[in-house]
Amino acid sequence: MKLLQEKIQKEGIVLSEEVLKVDSFLNHQVDPHLMQAIGMEFAERFRADNITKILTIESSGIAPSVMAGLELGVPVIFARKRASLTLNNNLLSAEVKSFTKKETNTISVSGDFISSGDKLLIIDDFLANGQAALGLLDIAEKAGAEVAGIGIVIEKGFQQGGRLLRDRGVRVESLAIVDGLQDGRVTFRKEENTL
Ligand code: G4P
Repeated sequence: MKLLQEKIQKEGIVLSEEVLKVDSFLNHQVDPHLMQAIGMEFAERFRADNITKILTIESSGIAPSVMAGLELGVPVIFARKRASLTLNNNLLSAEVKSFTKKETNTISVSGDFISSGDKLLIIDDFLANGQAALGLLDIAEKAGAEVAGIGIVIEKGFQQGGRLLRDRGVRVESLAIVDGLQDGRVTFRKEENTL
């Protein structure tokens, strides 16, 4: 997605050879116009799939998911990473290991909002090692719901998440795939070469 790649080139900050900071439009401040375009792009890619609901994870997955949900006309449900006062029964949970933070979190969704009749589109902001996506797939499976695919805003192609998911036969649509963060520069994978 050209607009997204341009934004990453303009505002992304390469923190190391592994980490790209995009706080100015995705992870802290949110650019609503860009987010709207991202939502439309996800909707375009999954419009033929009869999606009934979008499943994401707090916090940075919510903005692109809401825009995609608006475009597809479906609700958005986000997994919580922390215990909630009101989310207290009929929970569907999964363990998510974070390689970056060296910790394991339990993520949860209420079973009231996902059922076996649902066809889900999973959306997240970053795909690194794929642990969050695997956790969301686990939750979908526990609900008996079908997953049409996974939409990712920025995939780090040099980490294992994309391969892990695609090797399982999951359809992964990434709007930008970063292949390298060397010498403070972001290198993108060519769009036709995503598999
Ligand atoms: P994984 O789910 O793909 O295995 O990711 P990992 O555990 O490695 O990453 C943990 C957190 O760090 C996730 O966000 C993930 O989106 C984010 N992350 C991973 N690599 C990068 C990167 O290069 N740049 C940025 N900006 N984020 C990255 P989180 O902690 O759940 O954050 P949030 O959704 O609450 O904002």
